[in-house]
Amino acid sequence: MMGIYVHIPFCESKCIYCAFASFVRDENFQARYFEFLNKEIKNCNFPDREVASIYFGGGTPSCVSEKQIVKTLQTIKSAFHVLPDAEITIECNPCSASLEKLKTYHSAGFNRVSFGVQSLNDKMLKFLGRRHTKAQALAAIENAKRAGFDNISADLLLGLPKGDIQNDAKILLRSGVKHISAYMLQVEDGTPLKNMVESGKVKLPSDDQTVDNYQKLTDFLQKNRFLQYEISNFALKGFKSKHNFAYWTGQAYLGFGLGAHSFDGKYKRFSSADNFEDYFTGKQNVEKLSPSQRDEEMIMLGLRCDAGFRLDALNASISEKPIFNKYVQDGILEMSDGVIRLNSKYYNVSNSIILHLID
Ligand SMILES: C[S@@+](CC[C@H](N)C(=O)[O-])C[C@H]1O[C@@H](n2cnc3c(N)ncnc32)[C@H](O)[C@@H]1O
Ligand code: SF4
Repeated sequence: MMGIYVHIPFCESKCIYCAFASFVRDENFQARYFEFLNKEIKNCNFPDREVASIYFGGGTPSCVSEKQIVKTLQTIKSAFHVLPDAEITIECNPCSASLEKLKTYHSAGFNRVSFGVQSLNDKMLKFLGRRHTKAQALAAIENAKRAGFDNISADLLLGLPKGDIQNDAKILLRSGVKHISAYMLQVEDGTPLKNMVESGKVKLPSDDQTVDNYQKLTDFLQKNRFLQYEISNFALKGFKSKHNFAYWTGQAYLGFGLGAHSFDGKYKRFSSADNFEDYFTGKQNVEKLSPSQRDEEMIMLGLRCDAGFRLDALNASISEKPIFNKYVQDGILEMSDGVIRLNSKYYNVSNSIILHLID
């Protein structure tokens, strides 16, 4: 069983903070891309054919014609055995997800929608280069419900210069979203935001302030029955993202489209080129993980989410390491039935704990 990711590398415009592989391109170019993408899916000879989740991400899948999206989903359904209860997600920008589009996605088989909301502060949205307002974000969520979606997620950004993320979350919960991803704003190389921060034009909150906001948001969501099942992800019971959870627990996945990554669930990772010229030639990068690299990955992914990792699944034992035993004794790592989990109180310092363990 595996997951399928489809990358749609197009956006209406670039947001000032974003370094994702996404470009503003016209319809003719998009048509060429989808033609190649559909061929790539049809020609894929990966031995596992059972699909438990599909995720259309980007870029912005909602900014291209819904016909292209539906056709691509149909190609996947013809080429693979998509399980009847598969989770099928589409990432949408509130500015381009009209009621008509959402209805089309729902009738085609999508059963989960993830909106890039980022903030509900109109000044912040404008500053970030978003093309929607608070009212449009909330209207898009309403439209998704009217189109028949029950499983709706919203992305928020932590660490913005202004805004009140806890209040945003409160409004989103009232709007009926069942899942929230709260990402720490990363100041990525080559983005306009990086220049603004480096030149002093924009001042971001201190790390302490951001960690404090993260803690308050986590407490608020937990009080409202949203389980934190990964550092940045919170969901009501029954609404964890199956697709992302499969990544974090080391299951196999196939990625189609520009720069998309695949993993055979064992030791082989492969990806398509992240520039169009090479992508259209079908070039692939293949990487074979060593047993110790695989262990590191299992520890890193497992400790970021509530699934943890199985001690006996590692190639080399870490239970002799003094630091491992100290973390267990101090209650930082929790062990039950051979599974190691990070106590969620320590999610905000998970990076340094993971580094100590794999050092
Ligand atoms: C592909 S985008 C989501 C869909 C759509 N493109 C949109 O923005 O509405 C995935 C998410 O990545 C997050 N993201 C993008 N750039 C980021 C950055 N520099 N730091 C943290 N999160 C980021 C945003 O929250 C965004 O919603
Ligand atoms: S955040 Fe979303 S809409 Fe903005 S540039 Fe990145 S992928 Fe496109």
